[in-house]
Amino acid sequence: MGSASSSSCTASGAPNSSSTAARILIVGLLVSRSSAPIVRPRRALHCGRVSADVLIGVYPPAELSVLHARRTTPAWPLAEAGLTLTHLGRGAVWLALRALGLRGGSRLAMPAYHCGSEVEAAHLAGLEVEFYRVDDQLRVDEDDLARVAAVTDAVYLISCFGFPTVARPSGSRVIEDAAHGLFSLHAGTPVGAGAEAAVFCPRKSLGTPDGGAVVVPAGRQIDVSEGRAPVRPMARSVASLVAARAAIARRRQLRARAARAIARMSRGDAAAREGTLTETVIGEWNLEVGDMEAAARAPSRLTAAVLGRVDGAAIRARRRRNYLRLRDELAELTLEPFRDLAEGTCPLYFPLLAGDRSRAIAALLARGVRPLEIWPVPHPILDRRRFPEPERARLSLLALPVHQALEDWHMDIVLAAVKDVLAKPSA
Ligand SMILES: Cc1ncc(COP(=O)(O)O)c(C=O)c1O
Repeated sequence: MGSASSSSCTASGAPNSSSTAARILIVGLLVSRSSAPIVRPRRALHCGRVSADVLIGVYPPAELSVLHARRTTPAWPLAEAGLTLTHLGRGAVWLALRALGLRGGSRLAMPAYHCGSEVEAAHLAGLEVEFYRVDDQLRVDEDDLARVAAVTDAVYLISCFGFPTVARPSGSRVIEDAAHGLFSLHAGTPVGAGAEAAVFCPRKSLGTPDGGAVVVPAGRQIDVSEGRAPVRPMARSVASLVAARAAIARRRQLRARAARAIARMSRGDAAAREGTLTETVIGEWNLEVGDMEAAARAPSRLTAAVLGRVDGAAIRARRRRNYLRLRDELAELTLEPFRDLAEGTCPLYFPLLAGDRSRAIAALLARGVRPLEIWPVPHPILDRRRFPEPERARLSLLALPVHQALEDWHMDIVLAAVKDVLAKPSA
């Protein structure tokens, strides 16, 4: 499955050649076990550009030590009877639509602010998508949602960046997309629990080479796709994740080598430096049904093994600590709903508003922080003139890292880089 599969491998800046990948894998394995004292990063010149001797990405790197952990009962939803693991998140969306019996001609309510790949799944399934309004702070208009829910067969809700979404409209069947919300709680209940189907994307929050998941109530049948994720792209993805681990290691020399290797090989980072990130990374529309079936296959064995061993409560606690660190200093630079971190929320990243986002991303990258553009382009079936309010967010929001592999000294670097970039608009 061409683009969908390769995206999972380049999401964290995957190297493009297998031999380089193997070298990085070895360096990364050595580094990920190192416990040398912390050495603060120093800027170094590389390829004529300023680059730091660290690279802190938004998604977590590989944490292979988890494989030595004893299997415990994992946090919800990873031990649910109704759980099906998939290769990618969109594959989980695909299975969720199928589980609800939604097929060609069915009508589905979806939010006007979205990632795009969930809409692509619905579109490819032949559904008629009716969008509901989301305001300029990314809040769902509940009246508009109720209006659209009344004329559709099911409702699709999205938990943005791990924050809980609105209450489910009564009388509607609901798919809850918690691709950003693994281990998030809302009033003590896991986000996604109780929906007719809930979708997750563990690869975004756990440093696995792939992985989506769909949960349906126990007893409901899910029609899974045959087969497993392809081996080669998964090997490249693992190498990339191990390199990413090396690039945040405590030992400066190895960290710097990994950061330089990634800087040389990542197409996404090259595009970020050139200011062409949106065009380079976005645009996984025009997929085919076969791509969705492939995305709905079982994940790699490594992903399945990791998912049985992660500590959801510890991950949530660390992410919250890192988020609050940024929030305390940058609150006015995020949208209103993301200024408070309610008890139990497990954030995927910190959404920051940047006036000139491309410049900010390039400048942060030069300082060792690799942000992401957040959902810059909606799915082409959305009439953007009818739903103009989220446009500012599409243009300005970038994601800052808060993941569980980051310690306080990493967050010092992130915060210092952001302050430096904001203080020097032309840097
Ligand atoms: C809200 C949401 N749902 C679903 C997906 C699909 O996940 P994947 O890219 O693993 O297919 C994404 C991906 O970014 C997403 O942000």
